Amino acid sequence: MRTVLTARGVSHRYGGTVALDGVDLTVETGECVALLGPNGAGKTTLVNLAVGLLPRQRGEISLVGGDPRSARTRRHLGVVQQSLGFPGTLKVGELIAGAAVR
Ligand SMILES: Nc1ncnc2c1ncn2[C@@H]1O[C@H](COP(=O)(O)OP(=O)(O)OP(=O)(O)O)[C@@H](O)[C@H]1O
Ligand SMILES: [Mg+2]
Repeated sequence: MRTVLTARGVSHRYGGTVALDGVDLTVETGECVALLGPNGAGKTTLVNLAVGLLPRQRGEISLVGGDPRSARTRRHLGVVQQSLGFPGTLKVGELIAGAAVR
C-alpha cells in the first residue's frame, strides 16, 4: 500500500504560540482520515504543512514520498478549502480559462 502522508515529530510555532508539538501521523492510500480537536488544537496548521502552504519548522513531512513544498509533489495534490472565493474582477470565461491552465 502506498503511503500518502507521513508526519514525524512535526512541531510548529507562531511566535511564542506552540501550535504543534511533535505530531506523528501516517495516512495510507484509500484511508479516509478526519482530524478532530478543540479550537486551536493545531488541525489547520497540520493540514497547511501537509499540503505545503506553510514552511516546515521542525520534524519531517512527506507527501506521496516527496516534499509538500515542491511543485513536483504538488502535482499529485487536490485541496478543497474550508472557505474559498473567486476574484470579483474576473469574468466567468476568464475563471474557466484560468482553471484549465496546468
Ligand atoms: N497565523 C497565526 N499566527 C499566530 N498564531 C496562530 C496563527 N495560526 C494559528 N495560530 C495559533 O496556533 C494554534 C493552532 O491554531 P490552528 O488554527 O492550527 O488550530 P485549529 O485546530 O485549526 O483550530 P480551529 O478548530 O479553530 O480551526 C492556536 O493557538 C492559534 O491561535
Ligand atoms: Mg482550523
